[in-house]
Formats: sequence, structure tokens, C-alpha cells
Amino acid sequence: MPGSAPDPRFRLSPDLALALAEQYGTPLYVLSEAHLRARIREYLAAFRAVAPNSRLVFASKANSTLAVLKIAHQEGCLIDVASEGELRAALLAGVPASDCHLHGNYKTMPELAFAFAAGVGEIVVDSFAEIEAIAELATAETPPSSLVAEALGLPAEVQVRCPDLVIRVAPGVDPATHQKISTGQDDTKFGFNLSDGSAERALLRCLELKLPVIGFHCHVGSQLLDPEAQRAGGEAIAQFAAEMLRRHGFETRVLNVGGGLGVRYTDADNPMPIADYCRLVVEAMRAPLEGTGLDPTLMQEPGRSLVAEAGVTLYRVGVIKTVPTGEGRTRTYASVDGGLSDNPRPALYGSRYTVLRAARADGGEPVGGPAAKYTVAGRHCETDKLFVDVDLPADLAEGDLLQVLCTGAYNSSMASNYNRFLRPPTVMVREDGSLAPIQRRETYDELFAREILPSL
Ligand code: LLP
Repeated sequence: MPGSAPDPRFRLSPDLALALAEQYGTPLYVLSEAHLRARIREYLAAFRAVAPNSRLVFASKANSTLAVLKIAHQEGCLIDVASEGELRAALLAGVPASDCHLHGNYKTMPELAFAFAAGVGEIVVDSFAEIEAIAELATAETPPSSLVAEALGLPAEVQVRCPDLVIRVAPGVDPATHQKISTGQDDTKFGFNLSDGSAERALLRCLELKLPVIGFHCHVGSQLLDPEAQRAGGEAIAQFAAEMLRRHGFETRVLNVGGGLGVRYTDADNPMPIADYCRLVVEAMRAPLEGTGLDPTLMQEPGRSLVAEAGVTLYRVGVIKTVPTGEGRTRTYASVDGGLSDNPRPALYGSRYTVLRAARADGGEPVGGPAAKYTVAGRHCETDKLFVDVDLPADLAEGDLLQVLCTGAYNSSMASNYNRFLRPPTVMVREDGSLAPIQRRETYDELFAREILPSL
């Protein structure tokens, strides 16, 4: 299309694809450092332009490789962690605990104790039971767990201060996304409902216990291509903040509207430009605050929109086979050397992707010529249809390399060992073009390291 903007998704040139496959094998996750840094800077600049008093929090569940966490923090993000494991990853990446926000609908006591001992900056509170658990830790005479302190190399008599608390609110908006990744509606395990007064009662309980509560949070869903849900969520928590000031004199210092901005998995996905999106959610949060005197720090917590488009997955085609599907029709399967263990998203959510031939086994030009429909299948003993009915060159051949765009988020972080597959490595293409492995391929020794074979 003349005049149309270049595709913003990172992709590999044939030479680079061949070099990567040769050096690191396939399947392989590849991540562009330049793309990731540029995307974070774009988001930060867009957010600051409309809200100078703002912070961006990277949702580390999208990609918690240590290098990505370090880059996100270097660029100025705080880090959202949803488990002790994600918190430990951030600490290992050199992120101070004070720059980490702990999430989760059920944080276990040891997990909370670990977060206290580490000194996380913020806990996003999700239930009444959690408020009581936090109060218990906050008033404990001894540090929550000297064992935890020891594990972190802290002196046992470490003074434990209660992290700032932000109350997660379920604002009752129903986003248009896959039902498995929508969380803002009333019927959700996350947070405190506005509609039944739970959110207000949570605030009052925190105040009664003299816990350091500073604001409100919502996250309504993920891969949202229509930003109406986030707009409505932002507006709802800001209205709530204004109401809590009026009714209880509570001064909100932080409002966090979560993440959720969608990305371009296929050409049909058309997310709102980041600058427009930031303006929209900031205006939604600002309007109810007008005239209240409240000027909270505004936060967003994106994961996917920062890292997804910086990544590709490289596979090698192994077997091509055409089968009859009835009434004279056929389907051609191209089996690749990965599958749902490295990308569970098609099986879980019916996600579609852009699949391209990255290089030909014979070194020829990978694109051009007539296209044909293929179903790219994985190797797992399941249906494991990774990418159904995608257009690829009609002369696709065994040994060719395929690249799947937009796989930087929720791929390596959701990889499994199903069928005893080894999880793939991630290689970063550095800003200077050099290649740096940031996570190596798993080994069979690691795969069996947890096995205990009793005498049977
Ligand atoms: N904040 C909270 C509290 C969240 O629960 C999430 C995502 C985010 C931020 C970041 O959302 P994002 O900007 O990445 O959309 N595994 C699913 C996605 C689940 C997302 C869960 N929460 C997938 O592969 O699509």
C-alpha cells in the first residue's frame, strides 16, 4: 500500500535467520533490543506528555527473562511481579525490590513474608484475607521470616517496613477480549468489586489497621483492541478515589489503570496508537478528579504492548504432507520443530499469528512467487495446530525456516515441557547488531533434575 506506515513488528532478514538457526538451532526465540528499548521509550514519552506525574510499570509475566527485566528497568519502568518467582527474577536482574509491585489474587503467607523482607515498593492488595495477613506481618515483632532474610543475604534483625498498599478494584467493566484474559468484570477472582461496596470496605479496613494504603488499581483485560474497557476502568477508579475523598477524607496518591493495550498478531489487529491510548486513559482518570484537589501519580502496567512485537520465533519445517479433507478438498500440513510447548497461545486462546518464510533451505529468495494455504503444525501428541490456514509460498520445502512475528510476550514465559520437550533459548539481537544469548536451551539433565526414582 503506497504511503502506509512500515510494519512496526520486528522481523529477521534471511541472512540473520540462517545465521541464528545455524548458531543456536531451532526452535528459537529472538528478541530485538533496539525494538524493545524504542517501544518502552515511546510509551514513556507518550505517557509523560499527557501526565508528567506518571510511572510506567512493566508487567513481567509477559517476558521475565532477566535481560528484558533489566532493560525495562534501565529505561525507567517499575516492575510488576505476580509471584515470588517473578520477584526473584527481578531481583536477580538487579532491579531493587523497592521498584517492584507485587500482584496476585492469592499471595501465600511465605510469599508475602518474602516480599516484606525483600522490601518491595508496593503490594497490590486483592482480598480481605490478604489485608489481615499484611497487618499481621506489619505488626510482627520479629521480621516476617528470618529464613527469608537469610536467603536474601539480609541481616536477621532487618527492620521490616510495610510496603505501600494499592487496592485492586474490579470496576465492573466487561472488555471485548478472549474471556480467559478478561478480568475487570464483576464476576472475577481479582480484586474488590465496586458494585457491592467491597472496595470501600477494603479501604476502610486498611485505614482502621493503619496500613499505608496509597491508592487504587484496576486491570480490565488483555490484548484489547478497543480501548473502551480501559477508559471505563480508569474513569471508575478515579470516580471511586473522588468519592473516597468526599466520604472518608482519603487522599489518593496513586491510580493505576493496569495494562492491556493490544498488539498486531496479524494484519487484522489494529491497536490504537500508544500516544492516543495514553491520552484517552489519562483523560478518563483526570475528569472525575477535577476540582477535588487530588493529583495522584498515574500509572499504567503494560506487558504485551512493550515486548510482543520485539520478538519472533524461528522454526524449521520438517515434514510437509497433504491430506484429503472430504469433498475433493485437501489440507497441507507443514510440521515444524516446535509447538504448543513453546507457544501455547493458539491452543489456549485460538490466537492467530503472522507466519513468514524467513529463509529457504537452499539459500534462495524466501518470498515472492505464488502463495498457498498451509496449516503449520507442532510436534506435540495433540492436535497442536499452531497456525491454521496461513499463506506461505507454494514451494515451501522441508528445511526452510519460518519466522512467527509478535512472539516476544507470553511465549517464553508460558513455555512448558509437555512431551518432554526442551524449552527453547532466547537470543537477543543487540543494538549494534551483535547476537547475545539471554537464555540458553534447556538440557536433558535439567529436564530430569527433579526426578526421584524410588526403589520399585
Ligand atoms: N497488570 C495485571 C494486573 C495483569 O494481570 C496483566 C496481565 C497485565 C498488567 C499486563 O497485561 P498486558 O499489557 O500484557 O495485556 N497469558 C495471556 C495474557 C494474560 C495476561 C494476564 N494479565 C496471553 O498470552 O494472552
